Amino acid sequence: MLQPYVVTVSSEKGGVGKTTLATNLAIYLKALNEEMPVTLFSFDNHFSVDRMFRIGRREPHGDVLTLLSGQSIEDVIETGEYGVQFIPSSRRLTTIRHQIESPEILARILANSKLKGIVIIDTRPDLDIFTRNALYAADRVIVPVKDAPSLENCRNLYDFFDEHGLSRRPLRILPCLIDSRIRYDGPFRDSYRLLKGYAINRGYRCLEGFIAKSPKVESLNTNPEGKIYPVITHGRGTDVHIQFTHLARQVYLDAKQDAQRRLDRVSEEEKNLLAERDAAYGARRDTLQPSCLLCGRRLVQEDSIATAGYYCETSDGGVAGYLEEECFSTTVFRHFYRSKREVGASDPLRDLFRESAQRSYFVLRRAPNTRNFYQQQLSFYRFDEDGLEVSHKTIELMEPENPSSTGEEACLYRLAAHTLLNQDGLLGDDFLLIRRVCSDFPEEILYSEQHDRLRSVAVRIAAQLP
Ligand SMILES: Nc1ncnc2c1ncn2[C@@H]1O[C@H](COP(=O)(O)OP(=O)(O)OP(=O)(O)O)[C@@H](O)[C@H]1O
Ligand SMILES: [Mg+2]
Repeated sequence: MLQPYVVTVSSEKGGVGKTTLATNLAIYLKALNEEMPVTLFSFDNHFSVDRMFRIGRREPHGDVLTLLSGQSIEDVIETGEYGVQFIPSSRRLTTIRHQIESPEILARILANSKLKGIVIIDTRPDLDIFTRNALYAADRVIVPVKDAPSLENCRNLYDFFDEHGLSRRPLRILPCLIDSRIRYDGPFRDSYRLLKGYAINRGYRCLEGFIAKSPKVESLNTNPEGKIYPVITHGRGTDVHIQFTHLARQVYLDAKQDAQRRLDRVSEEEKNLLAERDAAYGARRDTLQPSCLLCGRRLVQEDSIATAGYYCETSDGGVAGYLEEECFSTTVFRHFYRSKREVGASDPLRDLFRESAQRSYFVLRRAPNTRNFYQQQLSFYRFDEDGLEVSHKTIELMEPENPSSTGEEACLYRLAAHTLLNQDGLLGDDFLLIRRVCSDFPEEILYSEQHDRLRSVAVRIAAQLP
């Protein structure tokens, strides 16, 4: 089954008739083909969509905000007047503006939904992240322009398509609010022809026709009932009725002829991305050291990773593995925090360390100013969640054959040997980054998003190390 055909109505200029166009287009499309599902929503907070389509006074189950925050589209959609489905608007949409970074989110939501037919999106007069999401998902972008300045503003829409490597094909200018009483001498006899001439001159493609300015249409959202009436029922005698009919037919035919939908492409790209991420995860998992790099006990089995408390990875990504929870904290207390008394397994200090370690990154590396590699000195750093240094401590790294070396020192030597010593048995420039993991699910850190974060912290840390 085909994905829905997405029509976005957008212009950075306010009051050019976007909302009037989006809401009426939904109804005219439905009038053309009753069987075809038409779904409408708006990123504006004027509630025109809700006022025009809501039947009765039911409480919405969700809205465009909860949709973008993860609620399923089937949960938030309402069946409205004239057979049009709509998603309620939200007054608080802008509160999540900073959580939405990518323009692909809406397209992915729509591509993964069961929506069919035509989806119409009304946008705010602003190229904000919500409008960008609506543009990214669109098979057709209708850009209403009412004068030369609003046409100038279109450039940013075209730039958005260029910046994202998207074809400009979906973009179409539509002259709106055209006052037919205004006439000019010369080749452009009226403002419709003048705007069309300007648009073509700039290489912009136009839809056929225009939408006239009509006092009747303007009056449809001011009435004692507080409703917004559609042109199809309350403005049949106007030119705008004929113009909307013509516009709906163009959109309908374009949708019918368009075999490759934007959301098909989005869905394909998402599948490829997931496959790539799966492969990257698999590759990371396959190269893990099977045993705790401190004590040597096997942690990585075929299908599980047992009792791992910390994940570690060299800065060049060459060696990666896990450490047992206790091995690591024992090593830290004995060698780096040099606790005078024995810190036993059930000592509250351990709990404190475990807890605070969740917000830390640890680093092992050759000591600063030990360019002379024969001084085998190892430094242990602690960084905060943002990768800023909190503390560091330097110790001698004893070889296990050394008579004064203890069992734990042998463990620490094993860790350094596995990860930091080069072929000549010397400490090189790489460092070992250590991060606490959830012991129920240590693999999570190998997932792309978590792992990308780890790598970006590693870069920040590398810039601070002497
Ligand atoms: N064809 C028309 N003839 C006359 N008035 C119209 C027409 N279309 C829209 N209007 C009126 O123009 C005003 C702006 O229309 P509308 O709200 O649709 O624009 P908009 O681009 O969505 O505005 P905003 O950018 O603020 O969201 C409204 O008062 C509306 O009733
Ligand atoms: Mg509007």
